[in-house]
Amino acid sequence: MTELVHHARDLAPAAAVVMTMGALHEGHAALIRAARARAGDGRVTVTVFVNPLQFGPNEDLDRYPRTLDADVKLAEQAGADVVFAPDAAEVYPGGQPQVRISAGPMGERYEGASRPGHFDGVLTVVAKLLHLTRPDSAFFGEKDAQQLAIVRRMATDLNFPVEIVGVPTVREGDGVARSSRNRYLSEAERVSARELSRALFAGREAAPRGPQAALLAAHAVLDRAAAMEPPVVLDYVALIDPADFTEAAPDHTGPAVLAVAAKVGTTRLIDNIPLEFG
Ligand code: PAJ
Repeated sequence: MTELVHHARDLAPAAAVVMTMGALHEGHAALIRAARARAGDGRVTVTVFVNPLQFGPNEDLDRYPRTLDADVKLAEQAGADVVFAPDAAEVYPGGQPQVRISAGPMGERYEGASRPGHFDGVLTVVAKLLHLTRPDSAFFGEKDAQQLAIVRRMATDLNFPVEIVGVPTVREGDGVARSSRNRYLSEAERVSARELSRALFAGREAAPRGPQAALLAAHAVLDRAAAMEPPVVLDYVALIDPADFTEAAPDHTGPAVLAVAAKVGTTRLIDNIPLEFG
């Protein structure tokens, strides 16, 4: 039986933690299963907390889906021992925090450019939840590649005694990356949304011909998608060095992330795939 805990004082240290904002789906389940596999007999804690600090003034904080009962069930099926669902006062005991963690330049590019302060808000709550759950390892999705890269960097740069583990993106049958925000899409928008993952798969197919070819192939799909109804309104598509989240050079070798962000209707979607250049 999965235990639902609201207060940090009732939490024992975790072997592995999966942090979420709730509205759990198969993507989150994959993280919980990976945590379960790593933790062995140890405790797997799933946190459910919609963190106000990482939402901008015009973002979807108020309409973010809240489905705690279903979340506890899904977490249990995926192998969680504890769901930790604190309220804001538990996580922010001093109210609006004066002291925050800065993501630095890594937090200002790509997602950070269109969401100022977002990654500072993410890191601040991730640090807090690491303190409250005290895990040996923490699991994050590759779906949010920049978040994963920045959290890894925080753990290294600030000597957090935790192993950060990345888990591959879970997709729907049509290729669309699982996301809590997919539920905002109308049927027609959903058809347009497929072009994000199609662009990434086209990039992956072209990748043996080099970084430029991969990027061009993705662009070609997105150019066509811009003319669809409803259109895919591109924010960026880029080939990125995952170590520091800077743009990969045209002669880049080693791991890279092909990442895309676009709006379909009023919903902003992101997706990426890992690539390797020899
Ligand atoms: P949330 O969007 O709920 O995502 C929680 C975790 O699930 C993140 O690590 C995210 O990358 C992962 N995830 C979401 N969709 C996925 C998919 N389709 N495949 C694989 N993993 C997926 O990310 C956050 O919450 C917050 O920023 C948080 C880290 C909890 C801090 O508030």
